[in-house]
Amino acid sequence: MRSYLVTGGAGFIGANFVKYISKKHKDIRLIVLDDLTYAGNLGTIEAELKNANISFVKGNIGDPQVVSSIFEQYPIDFVVNFAAESHVDRSIENPQLFLQTNILGTQNLLDIAKKYWTAGKNENGYPTYRSGVKYLQVSTDEVYGSLGETGYFTETTPLDPRSPYAASKAGADLIVAAYAETFKLPVNITRCSNNYGPYHFPEKLIPLIIKNILEGEKLPVYGDGANVRDWLYVEDHCKAIDLVLHHGRTGEVYNVGGHNERQNIAIVRLTISIIRKLMEEHPGYRKVLKKQQPDAAGNIAVDWINDDLITFVGDRLGHDKRYAIDPSKITKELGWTPETKFEDGILKTIRWYLENQDWVETVTSGDYQKYYEQMYGNR
Ligand code: NAD
Ligand code: DAU
Repeated sequence: MRSYLVTGGAGFIGANFVKYISKKHKDIRLIVLDDLTYAGNLGTIEAELKNANISFVKGNIGDPQVVSSIFEQYPIDFVVNFAAESHVDRSIENPQLFLQTNILGTQNLLDIAKKYWTAGKNENGYPTYRSGVKYLQVSTDEVYGSLGETGYFTETTPLDPRSPYAASKAGADLIVAAYAETFKLPVNITRCSNNYGPYHFPEKLIPLIIKNILEGEKLPVYGDGANVRDWLYVEDHCKAIDLVLHHGRTGEVYNVGGHNERQNIAIVRLTISIIRKLMEEHPGYRKVLKKQQPDAAGNIAVDWINDDLITFVGDRLGHDKRYAIDPSKITKELGWTPETKFEDGILKTIRWYLENQDWVETVTSGDYQKYYEQMYGNR
C-alpha cells in the first residue's frame, strides 16, 4: 500500500484531490497535513476522513517536528504539496507570510523527505533514495509573469513573477529544482492555470461573484475587466497531478491548462446569466437569495439579477494582464487533456454553490466580513 502525504488537503484543490484520489485508488494511505488557515476547512473532507486509510494532521508544513513525526509514523512514498498562501490580493497586504509558508514551508518538506527517503550514497557522493518515492510541487502559471495579446507559457518560458504571491511560488519552484539538482531528489513541478469548481474559497473571482449575487451585493470587477485568465475545472487538474505523480519523468516540469481563456468581465456576465436562468427555470433555487422576500403570491423576483450588479473598482496593484498555458507537453507525454468543457464546468460549479450554501456559510463565518471590508471598502 502506497502512502501519500497530501499537504493543504483541506483547501480548495487539495480537498478535491483527496476526494479524487481516494476514489480512484482504493489501496492507498493518505495523510493530510493542513494548518487550517482561513482557507482550510476540515468539513470539506469530513466524509473521506471516515475512511480508516485517510488520516488528518493539523500542522504547519514549515514545522520540522510535525513533518518528521509524519515520516516517522508512516512510510511516505509521495509528497504532494498543495499547502500555500494562495491569494494574490492577500500577498499584496502581507507578503512576508507568503514567503514563510510558500518558500520556507516547501524547503522544510523537501529537507525532511530527503532525510527519510535517503537510502545511501552513490560513487559521486550523491544521495540515493528508496525506490518509487517522489515529491510533487503544485505550482502555478503565475511564476511565468504576464502575457500580451498573444503567445503561451511553455515549460521553458523564463520565470518572471510579478506579485509577492507569484514570487513566493517561483522561489519555491527554484528550491525544488535546487534539491533535484544538488541532491538528485526525485521531484516534479506542475504549473497550472486558474482552477474553478466546488469548494473554492469565496475570496477568488468566481465563488465571490456567485456569493455576492446570492446576497444581492455589487460585483467588483478590477480595472476594466479585460484581464484574461485561462480557466481549468479542478477535477481535470487533479487528474493531471495523479498522472504526473505516477508517470511523469522525474525532474520535469509540466504545465497544466485548458486552452480556455476568458476576460474577467465575460466570466462575471456569464455567471450572472447562468444564475438568473437557473432561478427562472428552477424556482426552488430562489430560496438561497438572501435579501429577497416573496411577494403576496409567494413569488421571489429575479429580474434584478442582471449586469447592473457589476461595479468597476480600483485595479489590483501590478495586475497581470493575461495568462495562457500551452499544455502540449503533458498531453504528448502523459495523454492528459482538459476533459471538462467550460460551459459544463461552470454550470456544475454554480449549481454546486446553489446547493451547498451551508459550506459557504461555514467557511465565511470567521474573519471573512472583516477581510471583505478591508479589501473592497476603499476601492
Ligand atoms: P487554498 O488557499 O484554497 O488552500 C490552501 C490550503 O493550504 C488550506 O487548506 C490552508 O489551510 C493550507 N495551508 C496554508 N498554509 C499552510 C501551512 N503553513 N501549513 C499547512 N497548511 C497550510 O489554495 P488552493 O487554491 O487550493 O491552491 C492549492 C495549491 O495550488 C497552492 O499551492 C496554489 O499556489 C496552487 N495553485 C492554485 C491555483 C488556483 O487556481 N487555485 C492554480 C494553480 C496553482
Ligand atoms: O493562475 C493561477 C492562479 O490563479 C493561482 O496560482 C492562484 O492561487 C489563484 O488565486 C488564481 O489567481 P488569480 O489572481 O488569477 O485569481 P483571482 O480569482 O483572485 O482573480 C481572477 C481574476 O479576477 C484576476 O484578474 C483578478 C480579477 N478579480 C478578482 C477578484 C477577487 C476581480 O476582477 N474582482 C475580484 O473581486
